[in-house]
Amino acid sequence: MTPSSTPSPEGSAKPARELWGTRWGFVLAAVGSAVGLGNMWRFSYIAAEGGGAAFLLLYIVMIALLGIPLMLCELTVGRKTHLSPIGALRELGGKGWVPLGLLFVLTGFLILSYYSVIAGWTLRYAAEAATVGFAPDAGAHFGEIAAGGSAVAWHLGFMVLTIAIVMVGVQKGIERAALVLMPSLMLIILGLAVWAFFLEGSAEGYAFYLMPDVGELMDTTVLVQATGQALFSLSLGMGAMLTFASYLSRDTDLNQEAVTISFADFGVAFAAGLVVFPVIFALGLQDSVTESTVGALFISLPGAFVEMGAAGRIIGLLFFVALGVGAITSAISLLEVVTSSMIDEFGIGRRNAAIGVGILIGIVGIFSALNTDFLGLVDAIAGDLFLVLGGLAMAIFVGWIMKADPAQELARGAGEGFKVIIPTVLFLIRFVLPPVIAIVLFFSLQNSWIEVRAFFGLG
Ligand code: PFF
Repeated sequence: MTPSSTPSPEGSAKPARELWGTRWGFVLAAVGSAVGLGNMWRFSYIAAEGGGAAFLLLYIVMIALLGIPLMLCELTVGRKTHLSPIGALRELGGKGWVPLGLLFVLTGFLILSYYSVIAGWTLRYAAEAATVGFAPDAGAHFGEIAAGGSAVAWHLGFMVLTIAIVMVGVQKGIERAALVLMPSLMLIILGLAVWAFFLEGSAEGYAFYLMPDVGELMDTTVLVQATGQALFSLSLGMGAMLTFASYLSRDTDLNQEAVTISFADFGVAFAAGLVVFPVIFALGLQDSVTESTVGALFISLPGAFVEMGAAGRIIGLLFFVALGVGAITSAISLLEVVTSSMIDEFGIGRRNAAIGVGILIGIVGIFSALNTDFLGLVDAIAGDLFLVLGGLAMAIFVGWIMKADPAQELARGAGEGFKVIIPTVLFLIRFVLPPVIAIVLFFSLQNSWIEVRAFFGLG
């Protein structure tokens, strides 16, 4: 099968670019990028810290108000230029915007370095559930899993898997993997949510998760966390969606795709909450959720699965398989941002680019594998601060800077229904996103500074 590709525009120096095979290929790969550890591991501990339902409410508002317009910004730039982030920003903004492209690549590099470590823990839990079962003392066992040579080995194993898929290419690697993996993940999570509903004592979990405490809504930390998490979960602020959209033909309706991707991502996070909270509350394990922010899910859930005996083992296996599947499809997109930039900027072949950057990321990730505090620090800097910074820059770029009419770009391929709301979307991009994200950036900076000081033992 020869992949479809764009005809090289006449007189253009751009080589023909590989395109997605089908519309669903793109949508599922983008949903695959969005749905990942962020929806289950990060979402549940941030939601728990943010008071459950209060966080959830703000999170929904942030997805609709900031997430979807920002996703449209990235998709538009990718589809318009058919280039990876550095080249795309250079083409539409001039040389002065290249540093933003570099920040995107750095962010992808850093996020994948620790993301792969957590994915490694996930694979290990899945493998144990399938062979020896969950360990009786979940806390102590997490300590073993998240340290030393075995954490490094599972992290590197996961990197090899990610490299293998990205190396093969957009259609045969990324698209094919997403078409099989994403529907399986959704089915597993839905099945688990139905099962959790029938657990005795799950009501308390639903109450925590679904009934907001108005006081918490006023808390700026919850607002900042909800925004940061919306960006992380939707894979925004580092050019991942931009890169995937660069493999789209010019007449694709981006609006429909942006809404579909965002709904699917929220749906999975919401459903994951419907599994995690009832299980944790039904077994009275709520304290362990706040005990270790990074490890919350990896201590409380295996603890719950052990107490449930044989059924817990099967359910646990399914849960960690789903989590691992989500992780791999997201890791693919993180690696693709870095890989495609190497291909476009230096003319390196896909195979060598994927292997080369993959190895470097694997090496940097070893630090996170050996030290979960370091992992938390890189997450605060790259997974939070850099994404917020990147999101802010992207909104300003599309709203005010780029050498193309944003209204016209948004309207290209759009259905009649969407065309009507383009002025509103543009208003959000120009006037609402920059100030709101700038405020969040300010708090995010403070937060990262606190993390940096804490890491170095400065208070
Ligand atoms: N969205 C992914 C998740 O929720 O797990 C993580 C992620 C992937 C973030 C790709 C950013 C990105 F560019």
